[in-house]
Amino acid sequence: MKKFYVTTPIYYASGKIHIGHAYCSILADTMARYKKLCGYDVFFLTGSDEHGQKIAQKALENNMKPQEYVDSIVKGFKENWEALKIDYSKFIRTTDASHVECVQKVFEYLLKNGDIYKSYYDGWYCTPCESFWTDHQVGENHICPDCGREVHRDKEECYFLNVKKYVPQLMEFYKLHPEFVPDGKFDEMYNNFIKPGLEDLSITRTSFDWGVSVKSDPKHVVYVWIDALLNYISALGFNSSDDSLFKKYWSKDVEILQYAGREINRFHSIYWPIILFALNIRLPDTIYVHGLLITRSGVKMSKSLGNAPSPLPLIERYSVDALRYYSVTEIQTGEDGQFTPNQFVDRINADLVNNYGNLVNRTLGMLQKYRNFKIPAKKKLIKQETIIANEKISEHIKLYFEHFNSYHISKAMHEVCLIGDIANKYIDETAPWVLAKDESRSAELDEVLATIADVVKCMSIMFKPVLVTKADKVLDALKVAADDRNHLNICLSNYCDNKEVSLIEPLFPRLKREDEVEFLVGMIDN
Ligand code: MSP
Repeated sequence: MKKFYVTTPIYYASGKIHIGHAYCSILADTMARYKKLCGYDVFFLTGSDEHGQKIAQKALENNMKPQEYVDSIVKGFKENWEALKIDYSKFIRTTDASHVECVQKVFEYLLKNGDIYKSYYDGWYCTPCESFWTDHQVGENHICPDCGREVHRDKEECYFLNVKKYVPQLMEFYKLHPEFVPDGKFDEMYNNFIKPGLEDLSITRTSFDWGVSVKSDPKHVVYVWIDALLNYISALGFNSSDDSLFKKYWSKDVEILQYAGREINRFHSIYWPIILFALNIRLPDTIYVHGLLITRSGVKMSKSLGNAPSPLPLIERYSVDALRYYSVTEIQTGEDGQFTPNQFVDRINADLVNNYGNLVNRTLGMLQKYRNFKIPAKKKLIKQETIIANEKISEHIKLYFEHFNSYHISKAMHEVCLIGDIANKYIDETAPWVLAKDESRSAELDEVLATIADVVKCMSIMFKPVLVTKADKVLDALKVAADDRNHLNICLSNYCDNKEVSLIEPLFPRLKREDEVEFLVGMIDN
């Protein structure tokens, strides 16, 4: 069986989940579901990044011990993932004893091999990003290149990862695997960080203690990035007494996809491969750097800026399917995307209400009215319109797979909508209500009804990775058997024949612009 391992970044346990984090988890969950439907054995990892000065400070502000604080935050993460139907296989926490042990062992191993050494760091530090920067990177205004906030000068004894040593190997790897970081997302990293000369990475701190301590030198704690990145393999039991998951999902024959937002591209496309080189284990197939949700004024939505809504009220008002669908389609996968109330309303009304929802209701309604709920059997096609529609739809199904296989989820969803457009147009052109009035055209009516039932079945299977509750409702109404609901079965075929359908409530209520814009603006402003 083909295997697929997909990961999200582990989210900082320093505040609540907002729709930006949700976006990344929805992407990963969608890919996991898609691959499962394609017959893969899938392992999907997410989790929380719980160490560091910032989190310790937050705990203090809340009059809590750090562990107590992160426990409460993680509880909230899990509630959000449940509401969003994020179906992960494992939730890793960097405070898990097994993770801590893995980090400590890896540290000592790299130290022994000379890939880690002790020295002093003297540079510019950004507390919110927990990153050191060089003079060149902070510029004359001393601004953090990641978050745009002011940095301060800091000097301390610390351990370094010998990054420079691995730069030639990294460049060689990129030459052989240009798709490792697809859509040209490595170029910027090369120009900004590698070309000017990559410095060794400081990987421990002594000014705080909320972190994984270095076994052989406990006044040092492992600075967040090494701790954090190792989650992807510690979660699989790397270097532990039970490494069966690691052997299974980090082996050569597994397709490994790792999502990272563009602000953490550097860590995933430069330092992470270097750590893996140093450990002499394989690299993932793909680091997929996704864009960020930004506000109407072009600012990144973030916890610290307090400009990002929680997904929960959106789910409550619009359904989990609507929020998932909006997230993966409004943002072209890989690009930044604005969350704007008007576009939210337009997207849901156009794609889910007018296109898919309408097609479902028209189809089920006509089957009820003209054939007493029964889908007619498909025979040899007699109508030119059907032949043309089938050909076009088959082409879109092919493209759907191509886009999904290159992780372009928004494009894949667009193909499903194009199929809906074809089917709605096909109904208008063949006018089943006219055919129904003429007994001599009964075979034509059978053909039209069988065709649209089949299209609705295909579209519903294609939507399944995103519309995680409603697509199945439609397949239930069409009486499509559980075994026939996977992607291996997407093609225009016969297995809706003679099934007796049932009616369902409209899938997505039409959104009234004025009401919803007011509600959504209120959410964003909060
Ligand atoms: N803890 C680190 C990641 C360590 S991974 C080894 C971190 N955490 S984070 O909580 O700040 O952000 C994690 C991810 O959340 C981002 O990479 C991105 O995928 C997602 N997003 C956070 N804000 C976002 C938006 N405004 N828009 C889209 N995604 C966002 O960085």
